[in-house]
Amino acid sequence: MNSTVTTRIDPDACIGCGRCVDVCPAGTISMQEGRGVVTGTYSMNCGHCEAVCPAEAVTVTSLEHPFFLASAAVDDRWLPHGEYDTGQLVRLMRSRRSCRNFEKKAIDRRLLEDLVRIGTTAPSGTNSQSWTFTVLAGRREVETLGAEVAGFFRKLNRNAAKASLRLMAKIFARDRLGEYYRRYYKTVQEGLELWEREGADTLFHGAAAVILVGGRKSASSPREDALLASQNILLAAHSLGLGSCMIGFAVAAINRDTKIQRLLKIPAAESVHAAIALGYPAERYEKAAFRKNVPIRYPLGSKS
Ligand SMILES: Cc1cc2nc3c(=O)[nH]c(=O)nc-3n(C[C@H](O)[C@H](O)[C@H](O)COP(=O)(O)O)c2cc1C
Ligand code: SF4
Repeated sequence: MNSTVTTRIDPDACIGCGRCVDVCPAGTISMQEGRGVVTGTYSMNCGHCEAVCPAEAVTVTSLEHPFFLASAAVDDRWLPHGEYDTGQLVRLMRSRRSCRNFEKKAIDRRLLEDLVRIGTTAPSGTNSQSWTFTVLAGRREVETLGAEVAGFFRKLNRNAAKASLRLMAKIFARDRLGEYYRRYYKTVQEGLELWEREGADTLFHGAAAVILVGGRKSASSPREDALLASQNILLAAHSLGLGSCMIGFAVAAINRDTKIQRLLKIPAAESVHAAIALGYPAERYEKAAFRKNVPIRYPLGSKS
């Protein structure tokens, strides 16, 4: 996000409560003669000032107004802490499962654009919002990417199958090829054979669309930002009737293969951190997800 100050305060509307000053993380606003005034030369453009102002006196002009979704009614009113039904929120989170059986049904492009917009409501390091979204909106595009990713892994598997290359990699590349061989070679080989023999989409599971979430490499935390946006997309997809699945194999291939990057028009200054397969689910569950028990550490003795 550009740090240029785009905060505008209407002096006639301001009632001098000072709340914008209290919430601004960048010191962009100060109180002068009982009114909020933009005095800073730097802004995170986070919009806290606009959201907190009781007099609608503040606008951050670099932000997109209004926030609009084609698929759901948008309520701009802020939800106070503790006023949401946590049980329902957790139910949504636990009901989202990685979907690997999709119907042969296209997704309306407006729905995909809504998902992107919902993704951008996530936090980002220094509010950089430097994530990027590349949408493959139809099955044909998904298959085109699938074929390229398969090509990448076919080549990788050919190399990994050679003991001499694995030995070289052990000496010069921290055993990365050997590690790949031990962990993924067999599964990938089986997937590729199924793809070639039966045309089974073992990569994207027959998804109708894919959203690639990336970020500019120069941002402070591009991977974290992209993954937070991705989780928003996964949850929103479920609520909108769509199944989703993160596809790590596609991410690995895209970031290593410049030919695929060129095909997808991903600039060299960007990396892709998530590939989200989407479609109408052809599967239903009876129960929400259970997870492994997780140990919680209290290293400084704060356990009560
Ligand atoms: C970073 C990441 C990469 C993943 N890559 C794949 C993948 O390539 N193919 C796949 O079928 N599932 C993939 N998954 C889905 C996981 O297998 C799945 O999240 C996990 O088994 C838990 O199941 P759940 O998502 O249904 O709760 C990936 C998940 C994550 C978070
Ligand atoms: S929050 Fe709004 S009303 Fe209060 S000082 Fe800032 S601009 Fe003025």
